[in-house]
Amino acid sequence: GGEDEQSEDYLFKIVLIGDSAVGKSNLLARFARNEFYPNSKSTIGVEFQTQTIDIEGKEIKAQIWDTAGQERFRAVTSAYYRGHSDMNVVTILVGNKCDLKDAREVSIEEGRVLAEAQGLFFMETSALDSSNVSAAFLTVVKEIY
Ligand code: GTP
Ligand code: MG
Repeated sequence: GGEDEQSEDYLFKIVLIGDSAVGKSNLLARFARNEFYPNSKSTIGVEFQTQTIDIEGKEIKAQIWDTAGQERFRAVTSAYYRGHSDMNVVTILVGNKCDLKDAREVSIEEGRVLAEAQGLFFMETSALDSSNVSAAFLTVVKEIY
């Protein structure tokens, strides 16, 4: 191995996709920096952040790509995950903002059924109160690992 390989055991790429304002950037902010932005700006194009995750004593570097949900960036963002289907891909369906109990639009059961039908992991999260945020990221990382 080269010099670079000594500092990291694995490098994973995680891509966050979904409609605008569902909370992708805040899920990443909560996971990577334990921060939350009540008035965060919509992502332009793609932003990325590298996060080191420790799993069973192994250092895993996760390169997390936070894509823009706005329609006008669709061509750009899809380029980041197009063509990955031949690789080892693990997908989790995340229902974020579960703290907004009175504004719920989709029942947990509906989410579960959809995920199951598509063969996806499923989790409800809240970037606001931190519920399941780490768990959601760790679910995919552990499954790839
Ligand atoms: P785009 O970058 O446009 O694709 O949007 P996004 O999916 O990155 O959404 P973003 O993280 O910017 O969040 C949009 C709004 O929802 C912001 O006002 C956040 O503060 C709010 N928000 C994000 N996550 C949560 C959450 O778990 N609970 C609540 N109550 N609000 C949230
Ligand atoms: Mg964003």
